[in-house]
Amino acid sequence: MTQPKTIYITRLLPEPVMTALRERYALVSEPLENQIPTGDDQRRGFAQAEAVICTLADPITDDLLAAAPRLKIVANYAVGYNNIDVAAATRRGIVVTNTPDVLTDATADLTWALLLAVARRMVEGDQWARSGQWPGWAPTQMLGTDVTGKTLGIIGMGRIGQAVALRAQGFRMPVLYASRRPCSPPPGVSTWVHRPIEDVLEQADFLSLHVPLSDTTRHLIGSRELAMMKPTAFLINTSRGPVIDEAALFAALREGTIAGAGLDVYEREPLITDGLEALPNVVLLPHLGSATQQVRIKMGMLCVENIAAVLAGRPPVNPVNR
Ligand code: DGY
Repeated sequence: MTQPKTIYITRLLPEPVMTALRERYALVSEPLENQIPTGDDQRRGFAQAEAVICTLADPITDDLLAAAPRLKIVANYAVGYNNIDVAAATRRGIVVTNTPDVLTDATADLTWALLLAVARRMVEGDQWARSGQWPGWAPTQMLGTDVTGKTLGIIGMGRIGQAVALRAQGFRMPVLYASRRPCSPPPGVSTWVHRPIEDVLEQADFLSLHVPLSDTTRHLIGSRELAMMKPTAFLINTSRGPVIDEAALFAALREGTIAGAGLDVYEREPLITDGLEALPNVVLLPHLGSATQQVRIKMGMLCVENIAAVLAGRPPVNPVNR
């Protein structure tokens, strides 16, 4: 009988994925829930593995790849892969894969949840309702901002940007978007308009970010861009934290340069700029874009599929290397 191939997983994955992995492969180790690997754990894992499943919170550097003589594939448990030195992997003949499509709708849904939560002050309201201090209904109490009919700005019109734009139809919102290329809206949608980023910044009532993190998108939104936005506008980010200069955003929120923000991602996760948590005009989530039971299983199964293909000498389903 042939020996099972060795896999290193940096984090515990949802149970059906763990079962699929245990049935097919020898795992270097089984992480516990919420266990974060140390540098030593990672080096030990990479040294033995023919395949690795890592997450967006694991920086995969050239050094780590250099210490992995048997490694054929790094399957990133995320659609974004800015945590991996892909050029180094490619140079070393290591395939990198990601998990597109399966998390598009969940991330678009969460984007809308954040947008609505910040516009309608849902977190403040929830806190008040729970506190026992709510005195009862009053006409001027906890007033938010209309969403229906407002202008939605989107920066980055890939899969998730488009899924967010589609949902805007239900709110009768025109969509202005900035992206490298114009995209074709689905049949029947006539409200998506491709514009330069400056126009989108200036005209959006809600601005949602959906670009991958790269050298060109790091701090895409800084104090200059925030100053171009309407003082009544809200900024929503479910992409990657470093796309926003978080210190500049904190200043803009405190000074009323913009009206509020809904954030799922941060510049230095899991750290969040001191003071943001005390502002009433922000809703903060702990990177939950893809966090549904169904999606996290699908992401894991895609990793398993990509690994099976590469270890059998076939092309992966979701290659990232160019
Ligand atoms: C991704 O896959 O890039 C998401 O950020 C995960 O939630």
